[in-house]
Amino acid sequence: MPFAPFDWIDDEARRRAAAGLVRALRPRSAEAGLLDLASNDYLGLTRHPEVTVAAAGAAHRWGAGATGSRLVTGSTALHAELERELADFCGFEAALVLSSGYAANLAALTALTGRGSLIVSDAGNHASIVDGCRLSRAETAVVPHADPDAVAKALRSHDGRALAVTDSVFSVDGDAAPLSALAEVCRTANAALVVDDAHGLGVLGDGGRGALAAAGLAGGPGTVATLTLSKSLGSQGGAVLGPARVIDHLVNTARTFIFDTGLAPAAAGGALGALRLLRREPERAASAREVATALYGRLTAAGLTAVRPDAAVVSVRAPSADAAVRWAADCRAAGVAVGCFRPPSVPDGISRLRLTARADLTEEQIGTAVSTVVATAPREALVPLS
Ligand SMILES: Cc1ncc(COP(=O)(O)O)c(C=O)c1O
Repeated sequence: MPFAPFDWIDDEARRRAAAGLVRALRPRSAEAGLLDLASNDYLGLTRHPEVTVAAAGAAHRWGAGATGSRLVTGSTALHAELERELADFCGFEAALVLSSGYAANLAALTALTGRGSLIVSDAGNHASIVDGCRLSRAETAVVPHADPDAVAKALRSHDGRALAVTDSVFSVDGDAAPLSALAEVCRTANAALVVDDAHGLGVLGDGGRGALAAAGLAGGPGTVATLTLSKSLGSQGGAVLGPARVIDHLVNTARTFIFDTGLAPAAAGGALGALRLLRREPERAASAREVATALYGRLTAAGLTAVRPDAAVVSVRAPSADAAVRWAADCRAAGVAVGCFRPPSVPDGISRLRLTARADLTEEQIGTAVSTVVATAPREALVPLS
């Protein structure tokens, strides 16, 4: 028998191709070429000179890398400043920054649970939450999307340590979680509530303080937020925010903090620069929401089916995975970059175009984006208007 331990990869690739689910990397140039509605740069800060100068300045001062785990090589004043300002901005007692939002979710979910604990997780939660549940060794109850009654029922079935976890704004459809109802359910069950505010920070709440601040839940004794620094803050990295004893516990037990090199200084500096800019220009948060509402209104008025956005993500239904890929490619050929979500990245198997609103899009750019998406739409995506 020939030595061919990877032949199965070709079989899987053929199956993916037959289902229209092949993924491939596309080159991206440094110059701004396309009109960008695909990135998560909601506030238009990733190339803002104040943010890039802050990132470069941090690299000059502290080095290109963090040089090791912060528990081994020491923790810089830059990391401490970012943690203090993030916690203060979002209304929490303390914060811990990690190398990504993915690592932040793994840290919170694994450190706060364990064998014998229960995690109640929304069916639409992000992959990093799903993986955090798997790594935690806790029993995981996956409950129907945005259903506080189902969360309450699952929590009632368990005796012992428990938490519920949800995205604040779901990445695929851009709809918001029922945070107040979930907090009430958790309080009744003496369970913690972990909220991934990746898509809420910088967009929701007063001046972009996030979904938990908007719901009056920031800083609560049973509430933990996880964040990414890679969307509204235009940088890279993640954070966990919560009561000081929770953050202390993470420093001692969260493996994605302890055994991972600290957040790179340039990423920490960039995020801090963006956070300070957002404090000075709080109107950016409302602008992102307004652009999302405008995109939704005009796309649906043209006959497309979209989900009313609760934050800055606008999700438009595509007839199939193949059609979504072609549609996104046609938009790109016409100069507009949009996201294309299809299985396995969509929990319900329905493919979508995903447009992200940016606070700095002009009226003319919104018009161009809408007319391009409508002009390239497959016929089946357009509902005949009566
Ligand atoms: C809801 C959500 N949580 C977590 C992450 C992971 O964050 P990061 O990219 O910083 O790892 C993402 C996306 O990237 C996300 O959309």
